[in-house]
Amino acid sequence: MNLRELLNIGKLNIHVFLVVFMWICSPTIHAQEQMMDLPVSLYSDNRDGFVIIGHRGASAYHPENTMSAFRAAYEMGAEMIELDVTLSKDGIPVVIHDETLDRTTTGQGSVSDHTLEELKTLDAGSWFSAEHAGEPIPTLEEVLEFAKGKISVNIEIKTEAVTDEAWRGIEQKAWELVKKYEMEDYILFSSFDYRAIAHLKKINVDIAAALLYEKQQSGNRTPSELVEGYNADAFNCSYRQFSKRWAKEASEAGFPVFVYTVNSERLMRKMIKRGASGIFSDKPDVLKKIVENLWKSNES
Ligand code: G3P
Ligand code: MG
Repeated sequence: MNLRELLNIGKLNIHVFLVVFMWICSPTIHAQEQMMDLPVSLYSDNRDGFVIIGHRGASAYHPENTMSAFRAAYEMGAEMIELDVTLSKDGIPVVIHDETLDRTTTGQGSVSDHTLEELKTLDAGSWFSAEHAGEPIPTLEEVLEFAKGKISVNIEIKTEAVTDEAWRGIEQKAWELVKKYEMEDYILFSSFDYRAIAHLKKINVDIAAALLYEKQQSGNRTPSELVEGYNADAFNCSYRQFSKRWAKEASEAGFPVFVYTVNSERLMRKMIKRGASGIFSDKPDVLKKIVENLWKSNES
């Protein structure tokens, strides 16, 4: 064997080594293997089977659940925004995370003790920074009006607004708004209160809805038993809960898992590698960069 032949074998070995090394190191390759159909359409679908979700908008940089946080998430390239919805005293779906006004607004007491008119007088921005003073609490309708044609929405129905009644409650009110803005294909509902998922499916079985894992209601049931039992389209859980065992189960049963709330680059990579179909992040710009770099390294 001459030197040239020896060198060629060497090159071949290096290529084999590089391919094996990239396969081990590249999370997207693993994620791709587990890629599954998403239960919701994206306006900017790059077909990577992964969803960048702005948690309460781009809430690391703007006051959570405000129009400026949602606008920023869209401008940063998020493919979906997550928001929390509850009802005002006069039954209007409004976007705010806490049951009370105290933490994120200039008001006090329960959201549900205030009419929309009262809620609209409050400042939901100055707790975050003086620059955001005067930001109002948005209604779900205002967010949908903004999102239409731009960005998908995960509407998280807050537990405190859910009742035993499937009709005329928050689920139906939110769904009527989604229909009004013709965004049916671009909305994923979710709730920690499993009754909300059951109600949505009763209202219309085609409504895309994810179970937000809640231990007490789940009992001994596994994620796939829960998803099947509620006829859910996805399973959402915390990154702390998304174990290798759950990831394997979801991938075998074929339902997507969306993981919240991940703000560190290390955890983002870990969750993607584990097979998350999407990540909720307060920093969608950071997540976008991670996802793009993984794709680039996957292609080269
Ligand atoms: O829907 C994902 C995440 O938002 C659930 O937790 O408390 O931030 O609404 P939380
Ligand atoms: Mg939420």
